[in-house]
Amino acid sequence: MKWITLSAPLVLALAVSGQAAAADNAKASTGAVTTSVFGTLPDGRQARLYRFSNAHGIEMAVTDYGGIIVSLRTPDSSGDVDDIVLGFDSLEGYLSDAYRKSNPYFGALIGRYGNRIAGGQFTLDGQTYNLAKNNGPNHLHGGNKGFNQVLWNAKPFSNDKGAGVILKYVSADGEEGYPGKLDVTVTYTLGDQDTLSVEYNATTTKATPVNLTQHSYFNLEGEGSGSILDHRLMINADAFTPVDDTLIPTGEIRSVEGTPFDFRQATAIGKRIDEDNTQLEYGPGYDHNFVLNRPDGSKGELVQAARVTEPDSGRILEIATTEPGIQFYSGNFLDGTLTGKSGRAYGHRTGFALETQHFPDSPNQDGFPSTILEPGDTYHSRTVYTFSAR
Ligand code: GLA
Repeated sequence: MKWITLSAPLVLALAVSGQAAAADNAKASTGAVTTSVFGTLPDGRQARLYRFSNAHGIEMAVTDYGGIIVSLRTPDSSGDVDDIVLGFDSLEGYLSDAYRKSNPYFGALIGRYGNRIAGGQFTLDGQTYNLAKNNGPNHLHGGNKGFNQVLWNAKPFSNDKGAGVILKYVSADGEEGYPGKLDVTVTYTLGDQDTLSVEYNATTTKATPVNLTQHSYFNLEGEGSGSILDHRLMINADAFTPVDDTLIPTGEIRSVEGTPFDFRQATAIGKRIDEDNTQLEYGPGYDHNFVLNRPDGSKGELVQAARVTEPDSGRILEIATTEPGIQFYSGNFLDGTLTGKSGRAYGHRTGFALETQHFPDSPNQDGFPSTILEPGDTYHSRTVYTFSAR
């Protein structure tokens, strides 16, 4: 692996305070990754933007603030390139009051625990831990300041597998109420096979729950182009985990057979979303964890999780993961109050997320695969997104 460091003049420009304007214009391009300043955080630190592309015209931009995928441009079936993820073109967009209030987690890395922990509480080795209740009575996506809001340490790279960025973050013992110092590394690699690999590794000093994921919202017609209800979705899952009215799993693993949750054959997202169904009422819409089908003995190996096609653009997104579950969220809480990169408002269900993960609330659910990382062990998870058009 070839490490690429920032050029000396850029480092200097970034280090000298009061020279933000100079730094704004500074760009370091080494190999296939270009680095620029994305904006300044309230505490004065600067966030950077890393841009890289592949041989087939796929272009991606990632910031070290929250590890956010800021843009992802892919060709459609006629070769026209559009940005297929929701987000903003400056750091301010992600720091605004309106954004923080609605908290959609656009494109961000989620941790220490993706999705909800019931009552913001869990017990581990006889000790009870209290976490922020930042989503009604529950804890969501790591708490008040999850990994989506921290500045990661970033290193761009380019090697024979592709180009990308390695992000590191050390979550202190006790941060957001979680036990143990957690050392996290996430690697984004955009490859010439039109794949984006997201690889997660972590180690801890004390037993702790860990469930990391990526929260990109996709609209395969292009962000800002309207509803995602016509997208056809396939999820490779015979079962899902039904929830209560606060979106905490009941513990049941329920068959999708004969329900609006059966996506084993590609089906338009909107086809059954308004059916009279208690689970859809709780969503409201799809906001559920699917239990991925996995051949015996394939634990920890990549399996196909989902495939989405968009009829007008012909774009296809495929997702494979080492995780046991995937959260399908149909953008139910988007309400038009946020305006994205294209200058158009993000209305109800104009983006969807497919978050590969362990199941929500696992620290309180004995029947779910464990999310507890022990000292001496390494957390490892990988998800591969493949982009094409037909
Ligand atoms: C996840 C949750 C949703 C919602 C979104 C972000 O998908 O399950 O309920 O919080 O993140 O808004």
